[in-house]
Amino acid sequence: NITPVVLCGGSGTRLWPLSRQSLPKQFVPLVGDKSLLRLTLERLAWCGQPALCVASEDHRFLVADEIERAGQRGTVVLEPAARNTAAAMALAALQAGSDALLLFCPSDHHIPDPVAFGETVRQGVAAAEAGAIVTFGVVPTFPSSAYGYIEQGEPRADGSRRVARFIEKPQPAAAAELLLRGGVLWNAGIFLVTASALKAALQRHAPDILAACEQAMAGATTETIARIALVRPQPEAFLACRSQSIDYAVMEPHDDVAVVPFQGQWSDVGSWNAVADLAPADTAGNRVQGHGHALQARNTFIHAPHRPVVALGTQDLLIIDTPDALLVAQRDHAEQVKDVVAHLAKQD
Ligand code: GDD
Ligand code: MG
Repeated sequence: NITPVVLCGGSGTRLWPLSRQSLPKQFVPLVGDKSLLRLTLERLAWCGQPALCVASEDHRFLVADEIERAGQRGTVVLEPAARNTAAAMALAALQAGSDALLLFCPSDHHIPDPVAFGETVRQGVAAAEAGAIVTFGVVPTFPSSAYGYIEQGEPRADGSRRVARFIEKPQPAAAAELLLRGGVLWNAGIFLVTASALKAALQRHAPDILAACEQAMAGATTETIARIALVRPQPEAFLACRSQSIDYAVMEPHDDVAVVPFQGQWSDVGSWNAVADLAPADTAGNRVQGHGHALQARNTFIHAPHRPVVALGTQDLLIIDTPDALLVAQRDHAEQVKDVVAHLAKQD
């Protein structure tokens, strides 16, 4: 039995203005008419255990709604403030109990083939049961600085491979070098590990984070509403926790890491370029969602759910229309959209 753990606490600032602090991208229907979180919960139904979500207290109703809409039961651990993924995963491991086999999943990825996904996860079970942290690797397509890189080592007896080196978000030049070397995979951001192995790894590499989370969970309260349990860690203890991602805190320094390649389609829907890639293109490379029209244009993406938006003669543009904000960006600036959010925050 696998317990799915869905990490719902990210802010998705690169998808402004659709993704907001009050409604981050995992709660927005970006692909079709269901939110990425709901698609994630549905994709995990085969695990046979109710999902454990870790989310911000601010989003408790959004998460509970999506669990209900997916027709599921679940537990939601509510963070009083974000302390990044090492802490979020520690909370989940402590909530689940040491014997649990945990499948940590981002809430904001697009994986259209749930069957291929499930089969890949099953290939990692033996390694996880042997105490390894199992990662899932995607074949890289360009030297991105937004992903972790996995250097594959020797095959293991359980069918997976050892991870020789894990490199989180290398600079572009280092990423290009890694790609040239070959055999390197992107970390999909999905981890299969027993709760006890994760706690042991945190104890070794980030004992302060584990200790803060243990203290927070020792003082946790639980409230059950309908089929959903809301767990609130003790706020002061959790707020004192250091903020670091699991990738820097544990995956880089840890030595018992295994990788299983994932062959299916995978997108972390991390930027507007990634969203655009999920929409069909016309012969000039234009892609539109909703009421968008790209005329005599090239490589233009229009997101227009509410009213007609026309791009005439444009090239390499991203046009994102929402009721209260409009973004027009050059395609090669998609990664910098997060700076817009910081810029606007300074103006208010
Ligand atoms: N509960 C909670 N609390 N969830 C969080 C928090 C937090 O403080 N911070 C992030 N998350 C959630 C996000 O919503 C997302 O679903 C997941 O954890 C991963 O966090 P991201 O912030 O999106 O990480 P990333 O994309 O920069 O990098 C990770 O994913 C890449 C693949 O998409 C790393 O694991 C990379 O190595 C990996 O390549
Ligand atoms: Mg991400």
